Amino acid sequence: MNHLLSIKELTQQQLIDLLALAKTIKANPEDYRKALDGKSVVMLFEKPSLRTRVSFDIGINKLGGHCLYLDQQNGALGKREPVSDFAANISCWADAIVARTFAHSTIEQLAEHGTVPVINALSDMYHPCQGLADFLTLAEQFDDVSKVKLAYVGDGNNVTHSLMYGAALLGAKMTVICPQGHFPDGKVVLEAQAIAEAHGGELVLSSDVEAIAGHDAIYTDTWISMGDKASLDEIKAKFAPYHVDTDMMNKAGAKFFMHCLPAYRGVEVAAEVVDGAGSLILQQAENRMHAQNAVLVTLLS
Ligand code: CP
Ligand code: NVA
Repeated sequence: MNHLLSIKELTQQQLIDLLALAKTIKANPEDYRKALDGKSVVMLFEKPSLRTRVSFDIGINKLGGHCLYLDQQNGALGKREPVSDFAANISCWADAIVARTFAHSTIEQLAEHGTVPVINALSDMYHPCQGLADFLTLAEQFDDVSKVKLAYVGDGNNVTHSLMYGAALLGAKMTVICPQGHFPDGKVVLEAQAIAEAHGGELVLSSDVEAIAGHDAIYTDTWISMGDKASLDEIKAKFAPYHVDTDMMNKAGAKFFMHCLPAYRGVEVAAEVVDGAGSLILQQAENRMHAQNAVLVTLLS
């Protein structure tokens, strides 16, 4: 493993090992206090962030490393100088690059032109760190995460893609329910279905909300991702049946609700669900740090 650009690049064993290491680091943080001793990580963010920025910064600190955050105020990526020069220069000083970008191709360019590991902190296509944290969260609730039946409802997006690859690699069952025209990327679906088949899992897509029956957890995300130009009024009308409320949780028979956050209460999810007893949102947020620390330790030590 040289980078973490997408979960699809991992083998099943690498994913299982990352989840196991995240659990170990979470349980025994003292053992990892010097894991990144003398290492520096540059974080390049083109988009806003709360969880990703803070969990990487504090996580790196807890591993004994140093982190430098670069926003776009001192020269946007690719504007003052090419992304390739950014990557080559940062590689002269830093030991890893964590990047949140609009285009996934920017992250690929950083990996191509830099000489240090690159970690995708969200692109338009993938959010692998989120996916890892989410499967860590499910693994804490279920003895065998490969037996989990996960439903994703709403906009097929970067988070959906990473969840689909993760579920597929683990051999879990996942159903993705989206309005017509808002399904995940077709190529990603085909790849994830092939991976699922190879590992004894199943990935089903539907636009019928009745497909929600028989799932352990329902996951949703914002209906308009960062960088999307969609009109909220139009989206709200189209997506209304996909709003996750208590009725949908009951129809699914789902014990757990998941969301990567930020959540828009009353839009994609009802407050009673996102703030309810079965909501795993804060466990997911906390696990961002442990999952990312497992990635950092794997890539840098
Ligand atoms: N879930 C997530 O990535 O949150 P931020 O956008 O706040 O980093
Ligand atoms: N799909 C959302 C995730 C935010 C963490 C976005 O890309 O904006």
